[in-house]
Amino acid sequence: MLWTSNQDEVLELLEVRPGHAVLEIGYGPGALVRLLAARTGAAAIRGLDPTPGMRRAATRTSRAAVRQGRVALGLGTAQDTGEAGRSADRLVCVNNIALWPDLETGVREVHRVLRPGGPAVIAWHGGSSPGRIARSLRLPKEQLDRIEGALAGVFCEVGRSQLSNLVAFTAVR
Ligand SMILES: C[S@@+](CC[C@H](N)C(=O)[O-])C[C@H]1O[C@@H](n2cnc3c(N)ncnc32)[C@H](O)[C@@H]1O
Repeated sequence: MLWTSNQDEVLELLEVRPGHAVLEIGYGPGALVRLLAARTGAAAIRGLDPTPGMRRAATRTSRAAVRQGRVALGLGTAQDTGEAGRSADRLVCVNNIALWPDLETGVREVHRVLRPGGPAVIAWHGGSSPGRIARSLRLPKEQLDRIEGALAGVFCEVGRSQLSNLVAFTAVR
């Protein structure tokens, strides 16, 4: 699962600056955590995923950064992150939102943990040139519209863009 999506494009959209605190929801085996640690000047990279096996895999993927304390990978869910309010400058979530048991609760939680002005980038399989896996997991238009509507219900600005094999929502608090 590590390289099913082009996470470089997500990283570009996220516009992480030196010193930022970044939170990833649903890090899976940790491809994006690894990129965040290697390619950005983020001061703190935190991640939450409900699956202990994913936590073990992602910890192996970013072992050095975890040891240094720059990366902290915990267990948690989008609907209950356990994070302090307004604690993240950037929030990211890839190939995960369709698994949330309750979209509106997750969206409210994402909004709560972001600092004002901070964007959340939420991406799901799709995009302009999806490969076989992304094609098979694309969401119908009505479901994408529902996600955008839920984000627009709480965030100031919401946009949708087509990456190579992901559709990405950017929501600014
Ligand atoms: C398809 S994987 C994607 C992993 C990673 N983001 C990537 O793109 O490679 C989905 C991940 O979402 C996690 N997950 C499932 N339900 C979740 C929820 N309610 N909140 C947060 N993460 C969840 C799973 O444990 C799994 O690691």
